[in-house]
Amino acid sequence: MYDFTPTAGQSKAETYRDLLQAAGALVEGEPDPVANMANLAALLWQMLPTLNWAGFYRNVQGELVLGPFIGKPACIRIPFGSGVCGTAAATGRTQLVADVHAFPGHIACDAASRSELVVPVVKDGVVIAVIDLDSPETARFDEEDAQGIEALAKAIAGAIG
Ligand code: SME
Repeated sequence: MYDFTPTAGQSKAETYRDLLQAAGALVEGEPDPVANMANLAALLWQMLPTLNWAGFYRNVQGELVLGPFIGKPACIRIPFGSGVCGTAAATGRTQLVADVHAFPGHIACDAASRSELVVPVVKDGVVIAVIDLDSPETARFDEEDAQGIEALAKAIAGAIG
């Protein structure tokens, strides 16, 4: 059994340190990318407060295809360059969106979403997936969240692709 409940009153820095450590423990020795993405989505959901969606889109032959996630059913295919996820995938850059309604081309999968953080996962110079986090709170994510998820993306790239 794994119990990765976040400790009450923790700073973001502590949460991301714990998240990184837990992620490493979860994927350690497991070669199956789907199993690893499923557990990592569950871990993100458990460790980070105020989310309504947490999961992966994978680069399948140049198109983003829905991967393991927690949240409401979501759009299955997103072209590179479309929406927040497609922009992260096409540019290889983290997208930190304080207000999704102000993002041109945002794809609304859950009407409750107000802010979003999407981080590309890069392996051998190729964006193999993106990590997508949505929140019902405007400006839920900041630079510290972006850096925390970027560190996670680096650490788990070899375990999901
Ligand atoms: N909002 C995303 C689509 C994916 S859902 O949020 C799960 C986007 O604009 O790319």
